[in-house]
Amino acid sequence: MTTALSQDLAGKVAIITGGTSGIGLASAEALSARGVKLVLHGRRAEVLEQHAARLPDCAVLAGDITDQAAPQALIDLAMQRFGRVDIAFANAGLIHTGPVEDIDLDALSAMIRVNVDAAFRFAYTVLTHMKAQGAGDLLFTGSVLGTKTRIGAGGYSATKYAIEGLAEALRMELVNTGVRVTVIEPGLVRTDLHRAFEVRPEVVQGIDRPLLPEDVARAVVFALEQPPHVLIPRIMVLPSGQNI
Ligand SMILES: NC(=O)c1ccc[n+]([C@@H]2O[C@H](COP(=O)([O-])OP(=O)(O)OC[C@H]3O[C@@H](n4cnc5c(N)ncnc54)[C@H](OP(=O)(O)O)[C@@H]3O)[C@@H](O)[C@H]2O)c1
Repeated sequence: MTTALSQDLAGKVAIITGGTSGIGLASAEALSARGVKLVLHGRRAEVLEQHAARLPDCAVLAGDITDQAAPQALIDLAMQRFGRVDIAFANAGLIHTGPVEDIDLDALSAMIRVNVDAAFRFAYTVLTHMKAQGAGDLLFTGSVLGTKTRIGAGGYSATKYAIEGLAEALRMELVNTGVRVTVIEPGLVRTDLHRAFEVRPEVVQGIDRPLLPEDVARAVVFALEQPPHVLIPRIMVLPSGQNI
């Protein structure tokens, strides 16, 4: 529900990476319900086409976010279709876990390329555009594991700590430019992220009720609906039953 003081998001244009499923898709749906026009990115072209057919004013681009041309291609698509970019959500990510001493280093590198390198490049490209227009919201999906870690989660956690460092510096560098930077820090969310896990993490961690992607999307909307003089640097959202 919007209040008199909150920003009306209708008509704004959002680019969301990792928009095919989970938190990215739920955020896209929540923003779409508020009249936001969407540019969604992910690798699964058919899934993206289904979202484009269902959601109003939704353009899609399929590809790998580690493709260095992807950020500019997303901005170009947004400009062609909708003439502006107001919101950029660096959300695409994956998880690979294991004790540091025997983690699969190639899998670790692949995760770093998506979770860190691609997010940095996306932010770099988008912020030039937003600074020039004197307004914009840049969001990242971090994690509670970007603020603390667990045994076996060092690699993933390191990627999310990197996002915290980037976003904190960016927030300070962008003061008075009109560009706001926010990190969304979820605890355990029931999505496809853990598809390769033999045992679901909620079972291992004894969490009766993980978050749903919609729970995280509400935090995204909350940050974006703040009036321009209000900036929310980070929002941590945990399942009330997560003992972390
Ligand atoms: N689920 C949790 O418990 C949790 C907790 C904290 C933070 N997070 C973070 O939340 C973000 C979204 O994850 P999720 O939980 O919503 O899981 P998800 O449903 O698996 O979503 C991951 C998204 O990232 C995209 N993606 C992954 N690798 C990609 C690549 N190489 N190129 C392009 N797109 C790629 C996927 O799209 P395609 O498969 O179509 O490429 C998908 O849309 C991630 O950054 C994750 O680290 C999740």
